[in-house]
Amino acid sequence: MNTPLKVRDVFKSLGVPTLTYVRRENGRFESELADALDTRGKLALLTGPSKTGKTTLYSRVLEERNVEPLTVRCDADLTSEEFWRRALERVNFERLASLQDNEARKVSAGAKLGGKIGWAWLAGLLGEVNVGVEKSMGEVEIREKILSKPSPHHLVPILKALPLVMVVEDFHYLIPKTKEAIFQQWKVFVDSEVSVIVVGTTHHAVDLAYANRDLVGRIAQIDLSTWNTADLEKIATLGFTKLGVKADPLVTTAIAREAVGLPIIVQEACAQALLEKGWSEVEPGKVDIALKRSDAETALHKVATLHYRQFEIFYDRLATGPRKAARKYNTYELVLLAFAKDPLVFSLKRHEIDERLKSIPLPDPERPPPASINSMLKALAKFQQQNGIELLDWSTKEQRLYILEPAFLFYLRWREIRKGHSALKDLLETFFHIKLNFGSKAG
Ligand SMILES: Nc1ncnc2c1ncn2[C@@H]1O[C@H](COP(=O)(O)OP(=O)(O)OP(=O)(O)O)[C@@H](O)[C@H]1O
Ligand SMILES: [Mg+2]
Repeated sequence: MNTPLKVRDVFKSLGVPTLTYVRRENGRFESELADALDTRGKLALLTGPSKTGKTTLYSRVLEERNVEPLTVRCDADLTSEEFWRRALERVNFERLASLQDNEARKVSAGAKLGGKIGWAWLAGLLGEVNVGVEKSMGEVEIREKILSKPSPHHLVPILKALPLVMVVEDFHYLIPKTKEAIFQQWKVFVDSEVSVIVVGTTHHAVDLAYANRDLVGRIAQIDLSTWNTADLEKIATLGFTKLGVKADPLVTTAIAREAVGLPIIVQEACAQALLEKGWSEVEPGKVDIALKRSDAETALHKVATLHYRQFEIFYDRLATGPRKAARKYNTYELVLLAFAKDPLVFSLKRHEIDERLKSIPLPDPERPPPASINSMLKALAKFQQQNGIELLDWSTKEQRLYILEPAFLFYLRWREIRKGHSALKDLLETFFHIKLNFGSKAG
């Protein structure tokens, strides 16, 4: 008998998935990160829009190497001194000592540790005098002493001798001055041949690293863009196969195509499709659930309203636009609607907006003239700024309207159930499929 599997453990939308982990683009990013870690002294910059899998990627790669992340989270208030202190404070020697007992890890750390690891051990390596520590001091006192004047020098012996890799998360939150100061001190890691991972959402987050002369040739940037549909579909197929669920390829394709390039949406939608049927736990091979395209659509809609509801308030604000009473047309809402039309795109050229609006059934007096759309696009930046919204970007130069947050595009498309004649489509597709299968068998 197969042990039942919890749907949420297979399709994992929080934390690192194990059963549905996909190495996108044939493991390109895993290899790039592993190589940066092998090249001692490299600064691995992991960038990409939110929820593209940055944390999952390094967690997985570090786990495969039998090392643990020493994670420092950044926020706007963090100073560079506080930054190093935060890293040191997170070192848990007791836990590390227990890991050291594990043979595999001993090998991966590659170092023979003399005596008991701890703050006194660290002070010994740094030279007691250098850190102002006296022989008589105990662990707690030494820790305090080191934390009172923290620096990257203190982290080097720890990162070299123990199965740990320093990971800096949310680097983009730091103010430029702090980023600059931290990167200046980074040379210590380069010289000591310690590799570090820095995670940030945008390219701007890491521009300062490139501006630092000490880091020339020391940076490996790994840029995780949004996923391609084929890789996203692998997540769905992998999970459904594990659970023994029959999901038509049309279902997995529909979910992957609508996931706006985000693996988390595939995980959520697949789980939701099963939960909707009342399956939260499945005994592989024992079930007989077949998912149809319309099930996928219902699940996508549920995910949009359950997990991406926070966009509702922004959507309402944007769709209303400024001075609604004074405006003759619903231009703001209609332009947003243009993104809900097929095929899914992250940006629209000016003429594409017109073409999509044409396909929206509207009485002529309600159809906005080009001038109304032009003035809306022009006013968009200021209107968003006034409302603390950063979701759309109109580029006058490129004459293109961008959606800055993929998840917002997903919300736009699925906030309402898309009645894409799914029942009829299912029927036609099933028919088409039977014909295909029949055709291939006969051939
Ligand atoms: N390689 C993968 N295979 C399958 N699912 C994945 C993969 N990477 C990410 N996911 C899914 O996406 C979710 C979000 O990933 P993750 O938290 O790593 O993104 P992130 O880029 O670190 O996000 P943030 O910008 O919020 O920090 C994961 O919990 C998982 O459900
Ligand atoms: Mg993350």
